Amino acid sequence: MIRAIYPGSFDPVTLGHLDIIERASKIYDELLVGVLGNNTKSPLFSVDERVTMLKEVTKHLDNVKIISSDGLLVDAAKENDVQVIVRGLRAITDFEYELQMAQTNRMLNKDIDTMFLTTSVEYSFLSSTTVKEIAHFGGDVSKFLPACVVDRLKEKMIIK
Ligand code: PNS
Repeated sequence: MIRAIYPGSFDPVTLGHLDIIERASKIYDELLVGVLGNNTKSPLFSVDERVTMLKEVTKHLDNVKIISSDGLLVDAAKENDVQVIVRGLRAITDFEYELQMAQTNRMLNKDIDTMFLTTSVEYSFLSSTTVKEIAHFGGDVSKFLPACVVDRLKEKMIIK
């Protein structure tokens, strides 16, 4: 049995993330989606809000479980008996950062490997950051996000 983790900020989860989750859930016996801290980003949504949205949009996937951690990814992987880290690769611009992260994680724990899935072409330009910017300026984000996330993002923008 192979258990994998798909880690990220998911601030918020986009259709691009969901595409990777659905595809990875077919490859691995169990897929944990991990909301982890990225100290280069200031999240709009709390960890609890991001976990709730991820649970909502993955409820049709029986072998997917949502977790969160404020520690190192390799530690969350070890605690959860995970052998594989899954990351999506959109374009060549992602590669350097992803390679650095994969190599560093392997230095931290040689028993955990990173596997990359190429993002489906229709989502190859998509990022949570861009989507938040579009929403901030009143644009339509419904093509980029699951419907329940569109509503949460609109509410968040009003509160802000
Ligand atoms: O969606 P993101 O922001 O690109 O995801 C990056 C994330 C959260 C996976 C990465 O920052 C991470 O693994 N954070 C946990 C802390 C950690 O292990 N850092 C070392 C990575 S080499």
